Amino acid sequence: MADAHKVRLEPVGVEFEVEHGETVLNAAFRQGIALPHGCKEGQCSACKCVLLEGEVDMLKYSTFALNDMEKDSGHILLCRSIAYSDMEVELLNYDEELLAKAIAVKTFKGRISHKENLTHDIRGIEIELSSPMKFWAGQYVDITVTTEKGETITRSFSMANTPDQTQKLSFIIKKYPEGKFSGELDSGGIRVGAEVSVVGPYGTCFRREDREGPLVLVGAGSGMSPVWSILNDHVRSGEKRAVYFFYGARTPDDLFYLDRIADLVSGHPDVKFIPVLSHADGNGAWDGERGFVHQTVDAVLKQLAIDGAGDVYACGPPPMIDALQPVLFMNGFETERIFFDKFTTSSGGKPGH
Ligand SMILES: Cc1cc2nc3c(=O)[nH]c(=O)nc-3n(C[C@H](O)[C@H](O)[C@H](O)COP(=O)(O)OP(=O)(O)OC[C@H]3O[C@@H](n4cnc5c(N)ncnc54)[C@H](O)[C@@H]3O)c2cc1C
Ligand code: FES
Repeated sequence: MADAHKVRLEPVGVEFEVEHGETVLNAAFRQGIALPHGCKEGQCSACKCVLLEGEVDMLKYSTFALNDMEKDSGHILLCRSIAYSDMEVELLNYDEELLAKAIAVKTFKGRISHKENLTHDIRGIEIELSSPMKFWAGQYVDITVTTEKGETITRSFSMANTPDQTQKLSFIIKKYPEGKFSGELDSGGIRVGAEVSVVGPYGTCFRREDREGPLVLVGAGSGMSPVWSILNDHVRSGEKRAVYFFYGARTPDDLFYLDRIADLVSGHPDVKFIPVLSHADGNGAWDGERGFVHQTVDAVLKQLAIDGAGDVYACGPPPMIDALQPVLFMNGFETERIFFDKFTTSSGGKPGH
């Protein structure tokens, strides 16, 4: 068997081993070391860092995550890197709290115990695990389902429940036209009673405790899932902060959880819910915010004039996150106070190499 190689992380000085053929990110997960990451499959760029020493081979990735100029200047994606020697890497935007809160990734057996229609294309499901899984609000797992033809499909989904519920996990899943995994929601693979495999927890967009300033939550579509977990976990914690919960959707028919949100807001006057519709059709039936969610976030942040003194958690489709980031920077937020998960799809983006 080929030898394992050593990986040294700068500026933190942490060292760990990577087996032959294993990605550097998976080796870290296996050993309970939390490195910056998002999609884990070369699509989002969250794991980008600089190779200071050593040789790596990169598996297929999207040039949206790492362009050729970055590659030529020594940048690599840890989720795609296979080590061919000992290596030293410099982490970019390293977050100390991430390492301190690392939870080793494990595989769990699960059974789908509940399924409900939340909108015409959004479903809620619950999975009962055979043993408890510790996680932080905002994290996600990889779920593998088996289709009726016996094919297995794995995708990432964020928990919608709070971390005190460790053995029954709930998820909010959007159906994509021709989506392989989400297509199983209404055609057999994802049915009550089906056995699934769950691997996790993953994700860096989890709720940070004891911070100052307002909490800004931004979700769109199934991005409600981690944001709902973070919101409820915050409320349970008893911390006192103003909360601005923005939710972007197309039409009134795409909104869901309105009763639950109304209940939560009525008991917690610090929480303000701001739904924003991009296609409200101008028929007068909608008297809330119109446009894209990042535009409303911009307007509200300008009014609040908090100049970045708060924390932002944003989850949902990549274009929403890409539009939001410059808005946050312009409103004074530093990267250390912005946490996000881009819900990249496996087929999204062009294959790079
Ligand atoms: C960190 C993270 C957390 C996530 N959390 C959630 C969550 O909580 N809820 C949720 O619903 N989703 C979440 N996702 C997204 C989820 O993992 C899946 O990507 C999503 O459900 C789509 O999977 P699918 O198999 O249904 O679609 P896929 O089969 O992967 O296809 C996705 C889309 O691409 C289109 N497509 C397929 N093939 C091609 C092609 N060759 N060229 C162009 N387009 C194509 C399909 O029509 C479809 O619209 C998350 C993703 C990440 C990375
Ligand atoms: S985690 Fe590596 S590119 Fe997304």
